[in-house]
Amino acid sequence: MERAAKHSGLGVLECADSLRMAVNGHLDPIRRAQMGQFMTPAPVARFMASLFADAPESDIRILDPGAAVGSLTAAFVDDLFSRSCRPRRVKVAAYEMEPMLANRLSTTFDECRAAGITCGIEFSGGIYKEDFIRTGCAILRDELLPEPNRLRRFTHVIVNPPYKKIRSESEYRKDLRSVGIETTNLYTAFLAISIKLLSEHGELVAIVPRSFCNGLYFRPFRNLLLGSMAIKHIHVFHSRKQAFKDDDVLQENIIFHAVKGAIPKRVAITASNGPDFDDMTIREVDYCQVVKADDPEHFIHIAAIESDQEVMDRMARFTHTLEDIGIGVSTGPVVDFRLRNFLVDRPEKGTVPLIYTAHFDGNIVRWPREDCRKPNAIRLSDSVRKWLMPNGCYVVTKRFSAKEERRRIVAAIHDETKVPGDLVGFENHLNVFHAHGKGLPSFLAWGLAIYLNTTLVDRYFRIFSGHTQVNATDLRKIPYPSVAVLEVLGRRIGLQFPDQTEVDRIFEEAIVLGGRGKLSARKCLEGSSRIQT
Ligand SMILES: C[S@@+](CC[C@H](N)C(=O)[O-])C[C@H]1O[C@@H](n2cnc3c(N)ncnc32)[C@H](O)[C@@H]1O
Repeated sequence: MERAAKHSGLGVLECADSLRMAVNGHLDPIRRAQMGQFMTPAPVARFMASLFADAPESDIRILDPGAAVGSLTAAFVDDLFSRSCRPRRVKVAAYEMEPMLANRLSTTFDECRAAGITCGIEFSGGIYKEDFIRTGCAILRDELLPEPNRLRRFTHVIVNPPYKKIRSESEYRKDLRSVGIETTNLYTAFLAISIKLLSEHGELVAIVPRSFCNGLYFRPFRNLLLGSMAIKHIHVFHSRKQAFKDDDVLQENIIFHAVKGAIPKRVAITASNGPDFDDMTIREVDYCQVVKADDPEHFIHIAAIESDQEVMDRMARFTHTLEDIGIGVSTGPVVDFRLRNFLVDRPEKGTVPLIYTAHFDGNIVRWPREDCRKPNAIRLSDSVRKWLMPNGCYVVTKRFSAKEERRRIVAAIHDETKVPGDLVGFENHLNVFHAHGKGLPSFLAWGLAIYLNTTLVDRYFRIFSGHTQVNATDLRKIPYPSVAVLEVLGRRIGLQFPDQTEVDRIFEEAIVLGGRGKLSARKCLEGSSRIQT
């Protein structure tokens, strides 16, 4: 007998959710991590489904790539079937490579079919135990053998893709490149193929890591996404752990809804702590507040709450790029494991100081450090020299902040008067602010360190970056005050680097209230003076 006739009586999504929970315990943990088998809990799936607009079409074609037991399709079908504006026919193509999960999909589809019968909607679902990347690219290349029932274009995509790096020489990369997709992670590969498989005005709802919003490597993906779709809604979870709390996933995830070929106008931004959505905040902003018209990187800014917008507005007064003010920022050039043979624990004749994040003493570089587990110096030789910089006054920031660290951007002063020698090595876990590869004027460096350590800059950074990693590209994207303002800030510091409250006070006083220093910061806000080198 058709399973549809034995409709469980539960909602379609509830059925899929019990399948999800039942199967979760049977998945092999290693394979689970390899395949990214972290399934969407029902409340999150329900929220995602609710984001799709009422579809005027009578035929709906849904793509669910990496479907697992079909929770997302189930949520969408549940939502769709209960709307006043309902389609006549719903067809689904679900791709799932894991046999244990794909086999459960037919149960979910039976439930969908049965639910359709009760409300007069014809449901059909195709289950493809195939690799979505390979098949998706083959469809885009128009290479698949004719199969009358296989859907090739979709009106809706609902997706929670697997996350994993794709190696540059892999078959996946070649396949993706063959259809014009350049990307380094499976999740953006899933999204990119899905976008291309959407028909005009087609809608996509996805739950994905937030990293694509600003990462350097995601730029081609952002170009594809923002060039062909209009983002309508973004949801952020305040807590990193919450969205997939059953599975202990510590990824910062967002949900977004976008429509192909639509003109970007307003974007709804919602936020909640976790998947209950009962504490959800809602705001609507202009698209240009999310993606800046003049930003060639197409970073996606998510100001989830009113105070985030305040941060964005306050930062908007700083109109300089680092390049404008003649400052560069680079990753610390010394990759220690490549120069292993030259590293020495203590400075001695023929060595130069080597600076690690371990040399941060608050916001000052203290060198050498006896208590440091890292080498303090590097032996000078021809193969080492090219990785060193002339000693001087630099601002250095940590590239990776520790989980327990309160701040994402932690900037410290490297002062040549405290660290002797003509040359210095900065290790690769640091970013180094410099003037054309040399040190910065001292007041400017101190001012820059103050600016980078303000609460305002830290909050701004969190709005556009989901990760704890702070790369040089990210630092280039922050707007900066003019050199004159930075110098005003720098002149206000005594011998000690101030604590957080004092940093913020000095900054507020100089910027907001106008300077008590020799030069009023407010007056020089508009000044675009570059540093003299
Ligand atoms: C993050 S889970 C999400 C599952 C489901 N969409 C949900 O939201 O509950 C991703 C799923 O994609 C499947 N998967 C991973 N790589 C795949 C590929 N290349 N092609 C098809 N499925 C894949 C995994 O087995 C896993 O079930």
